[in-house]
Order: sequence, then C-alpha cells, then structure tokens
Amino acid sequence: MVASVTFGVGSLVWVEDPDVAWIDGEVISVNGEDIKVLCTSGKTVVVKSSNVYAKDSEAPPCGVDDMTKLAYLHEPGVLQNLKSRYDINEIYTYTGNILIAVNPFQRLPHLYNSHMMSQYKGAAFGELSPHPFAVADAAYRLMMNEGVSQSILVSGESGAGKTESTKSLMQYLAFMGGRSATEERTVEQQVLDSNPVLEAFGNAKTLRNNNSSRFGKFVEIQFDQRGRISGAAIRTYLLERSRVCQVSDPERNYHCFYMLCAAPPEEIKKYKLENPRSFHYLNQSNCFELNGVDESKEYLATRKAMDTVGISSEDQDAIFRVIAAILHLGNIEFVKGKEFDSSMPKDEKSWFHLRAAAELFMCDEKSLVDSLCKRVIVTRDETITKELDPEAATASRDALAKTVYSRLFDW
Ligand SMILES: Nc1ncnc2c1ncn2[C@@H]1O[C@H](COP(=O)(O)OP(=O)(O)OP(=O)(O)O)[C@@H](O)[C@H]1O
Ligand SMILES: [Mg+2]
Repeated sequence: MVASVTFGVGSLVWVEDPDVAWIDGEVISVNGEDIKVLCTSGKTVVVKSSNVYAKDSEAPPCGVDDMTKLAYLHEPGVLQNLKSRYDINEIYTYTGNILIAVNPFQRLPHLYNSHMMSQYKGAAFGELSPHPFAVADAAYRLMMNEGVSQSILVSGESGAGKTESTKSLMQYLAFMGGRSATEERTVEQQVLDSNPVLEAFGNAKTLRNNNSSRFGKFVEIQFDQRGRISGAAIRTYLLERSRVCQVSDPERNYHCFYMLCAAPPEEIKKYKLENPRSFHYLNQSNCFELNGVDESKEYLATRKAMDTVGISSEDQDAIFRVIAAILHLGNIEFVKGKEFDSSMPKDEKSWFHLRAAAELFMCDEKSLVDSLCKRVIVTRDETITKELDPEAATASRDALAKTVYSRLFDW
C-alpha cells in the first residue's frame, strides 16, 4: 500500500528505536540500501532503507482529528499523531469512520455528560470532535433512515478501554432511544444497569487492568419503529473459569467475592462468611483491596442494579448463596481415608465449610462429600463407584466450583 519512497540526504524520517518505538531524524548519507540517520536524540544510526519511514515535516504539532488527513498513514505517523493529541488531552481520533480511543487513565466526566450527548445529537459525523457518541449517533441515524440493523465493533488489548467505550456507546443509545421516564424501571435504565451486574461477576483485577472483563460479550439493543428502545439481549462468551479457584499475585478473583465479604452484618452471618483473607480461593494472592473501591458500597450498588435489571430478591439471594458456597467449597481440604486410595474432609474446619457449602447449595451433606471424594463410572452393564485420593478429591472440588460459577454466570 505504501508507495516506495526514496530518501536523499536531508530527508526527514522515522526509524525504529528500542526505547521509544519510533524516533525522528534526518538522513545524513545514503549508501545503496544503507541509510545513515542523525536522530533528534543526538544518536546516529545506520538502517536499511526498507525500515525507514518518511516524516511529514508539515504535520501540525497538535495532530489531526482524522488520520486520513495525514500525508503518511504508516505506524510512526499514526503513533506520532495519537501522541500529539494525547498530549493536549484529546483521547479520541478518527481514521475515516473508525474511532481510536487512547486510555486517559483518569476520569473525564465533562466528556460524557448530557450536555455532550445533546451536542452530538443530529450533528453530522466528523463535524464535532471525535467521540463514541458520534459513532453511536451515526449508527442510530443509519438505523432510523435506512431501517437496517447496525453493529459497532469494539476491540483492543486488555486495558485499552473497551468496556468504558462500550458504556459510552450504550449511554448515548439509551439517551436517544429513551422515553421520558415516568416509570421507575425504564428499559434503557435496565440496559445500562446490566453493566454493573455483569462486571461484578465477570470482571477481576489483573496485572493490566483493575477491572478486566474476563469474558466476551455481544450486546443487542432493539428499537421500535419510532426509534425507542424496546428490548435488549446480552450474550456472554467464554468466561475465564480457572480464576474461580486459581488466582496469582497480585491479581484478584471476580469482584463479587470481595463484595459479598463486605456485605451488611446480617448477610455475612446468613452466608457464614469471614474476612476474604480466610478463603483459599481468595488468599492465594495478597491483593484483596482495590484503590478507591469500597466493596461494601459496591455490594449495595450491585444489589440495586440487580433490582433494576429485574432480578427478584429471591433470585438475588440464591445467587449470593452460590457465591458464598463456592468460597466455603474452596476451604474443604482432604486427607487419606480408611480405604486404599480414598479421601475424606481433613478436620473439623473442613467439615464446617463442607456443611456450610451443603446448606447454602441446599443439597444433602452426604451427597456433597460423596460427589467430591468418589467418582461414579457408568458402563453398559453396571455402575462402578471409585474412591478418589485426596489430590483427586481436591481437583473435583475445584471442578465443581468452576462449573457452578460459570453456570451461574451464564444464567
Ligand atoms: N474513556 C475513559 N475515561 C476514563 N477512564 C478510562 C477510559 N477508558 C479507560 N479508562 C480506564 O482504564 C481502565 C481500563 O479500561 P477498560 O476496563 O475499559 O479496558 P478493557 O479494554 O475493557 O480491558 P479488558 O480487556 O481487560 O476488559 C478503566 O477501568 C478506567 O479506569
Ligand atoms: Mg473490559
């Protein structure tokens, strides 16, 4: 795609740099394929001409808001443009109708308020500063004018800002498709409140992102003929199951576990919970708290969002019972049993957690022990029950925890 450019002495160019990715400089001599460049850092390097990219000496210092306006649309040109804009707090840039977002790592509330939404309403695409609202507006308008479904794809590496960008898109569509709220639970509010619910159960702190989504999702918002939101469906994919029973330092398990441990005292008592530090599924990592996050407030906010979304209080109780049961499950340890290669809960503490898990799952205690310490093999002629050693029992405990959690998440 890039036309081959020949470089002469005095050409301004970009060359790759191990520290700053791309550095600019001036060609000081050319010897066949080898080009000697004096970089702005003062360093001189010799590089192959195929690794040298032309620098636009007329590129505006504050960058351009649509990169199709750049003289050269190659990697150093794009990165330089994004950086110039980032330096003046412009986190959004277009490349045609693609919006590129650079994570600001700070809250910018003025960018997303209702005043902003009304600005973008009806403005032609490209007329105002690049913004997710403009992308959502263009999609909404196309849907209304042409009567055809639209989709917006959000992609990027972990921590890039996909979840935040998706929330802005949904916020704008709810704004456009909302009805003047007389009811308490409007469809658009339900659509927006699905986010905190999903994040509580599907997001966790990772090395790269304190609120990393550990699943993929497809959000479908349906509109009626008049452009009002009439319904929504959210499909989730591929939740990271292993995190439920295996967490490496300094990451965390799913947010809901820490929230539940910070629930009001009567609920802590009901679910027989303690400090998160006492649960094996949480204390494999030394990270329990998140900067600026109050888990007890998050718990109440999640409950409220569940109310809005339409999850009954019985269902909510069942959900948190399962979450608590999983924590208890993780604290059941096994020792060798009386028979060869068999196992049983280790001590009174393990029995306590086993009883708590059975009570919360509302299942029979004996059946739960058997399901962990034995394996039932069904053949054509008979059913064989095999004892499991402590190691295998621990593995079946973890398998149960993962399966129950991912089924709960899907549900
Ligand atoms: N537009 C924004 N305004 C303010 N903060 C932002 C914005 N975009 C991202 N952030 C910050 O960066 C963090 C990570 O962003 P986000 O969770 O959206 O990443 P992601 O792409 O969904 O990552 P993952 O793939 O791990 O889920 C957010 O929790 C927030 O602190
Ligand atoms: Mg995310």
